[in-house]
Amino acid sequence: MTKLFEPIQIRSKTVRNRVWIAPMCQYSCENKDGVPNEWHMVHLGSRAVGGAGVVICEATAVLPEGRISPWDTGIWNDEQVAAWQPINAFIRSQGALSAIQIAHAGRKASIYREWSGSGSVPLSDGGWQPVSSTAEAFTGYAQPRELNTAEVGERVRAFIEAGMRSVKAGFDMIELHAAHGYLIHQFLSPITNQRTDEYGGSPENRARFLLEIVIGIRAAVGEDVPLLVRFSATDYRDDGFTVEACAQVAKWCEEAGADMFDISSGGLITGVQIPMGAGYQVGIAEEVSQSVDSPVSAVGRITEAAQAEEILQSGQVEIIMIGRGALRDPYWPLRAAHELKAEIEWPKQYSRGKFEN
Ligand SMILES: Cc1cc2nc3c(=O)[nH]c(=O)nc-3n(C[C@H](O)[C@H](O)[C@H](O)COP(=O)(O)O)c2cc1C
Repeated sequence: MTKLFEPIQIRSKTVRNRVWIAPMCQYSCENKDGVPNEWHMVHLGSRAVGGAGVVICEATAVLPEGRISPWDTGIWNDEQVAAWQPINAFIRSQGALSAIQIAHAGRKASIYREWSGSGSVPLSDGGWQPVSSTAEAFTGYAQPRELNTAEVGERVRAFIEAGMRSVKAGFDMIELHAAHGYLIHQFLSPITNQRTDEYGGSPENRARFLLEIVIGIRAAVGEDVPLLVRFSATDYRDDGFTVEACAQVAKWCEEAGADMFDISSGGLITGVQIPMGAGYQVGIAEEVSQSVDSPVSAVGRITEAAQAEEILQSGQVEIIMIGRGALRDPYWPLRAAHELKAEIEWPKQYSRGKFEN
């Protein structure tokens, strides 16, 4: 029996295996209205066909101003809810579960997608002034406006409403994007949070924005819906958000109603050295996992079936997320099952894929 294909239970949901698709922005809402379309159906749907346990859709904005680019998906209105429904129904029809990553880009909002330009989108081309915990810009991007205390509360409310809409849209799970230098991470890190109100200063105050969101979403969606949090567990700078701080915040999130932690790193600032290599974030995920009872996932340069299986066998984490490996091969989990000789249910149409001859 492989670990990779062992089911896992999170609240009311039984997930068929432990190989999940990491959230990946597609920048493909060509109408710039945040409404997912055929691209998202095929992209996400094919990864559900490919055998993943959970398909996590891209960073999806809770407000228009929270989009990384004008082409991001959103979950701030009913049109978006309706467009997500058939995508989620298809994912579930393939035996996978669907998760949404709800996000606000903060000071990293309003930039061009890679193939349309670079840097911030000016107001004259449909861009907007970003908002943040700070008035300091991300290197090379437009200057944000610092949110006042009441406005921070409004962003908490936007996340909670997005959580409720996510359930209506048919998502099985909700992931909060607290990583990669986006708004929640901007509040968590002392580098981007020098605030003097209740959302800044002590570790408790810097975590307040996230914890209010966790508490609010849990109260709004009830006990059944798994709530995940993706962290950047380190800024790779001693004066930034550290693995120890992340472990503490994860514990608080768990006490507030979160169920799983998805551990990534970096993205807050430029000019730091990230020790990239095979499975380079597994160690920090393991450190966070030691402070919580909930399952933790590892992501980042996990590309081979045997490597993924070994990480789970070692007991460092409970779940593996695949990003770029699943862009190269949407059927990554099916191929892994074949390589590891795991007995799984294949899509009926593809069932001959499990035989060599
Ligand atoms: C095209 C692309 C888009 C991404 N978009 C997101 C995103 O929306 N949210 C997020 O948390 N991470 C995003 N990431 C990071 C991935 O989820 C993942 O953590 C990262 O690629 C490392 O895993 P990998 O080595 O398996 O690709 C993105 C990565 C890629 C390649």
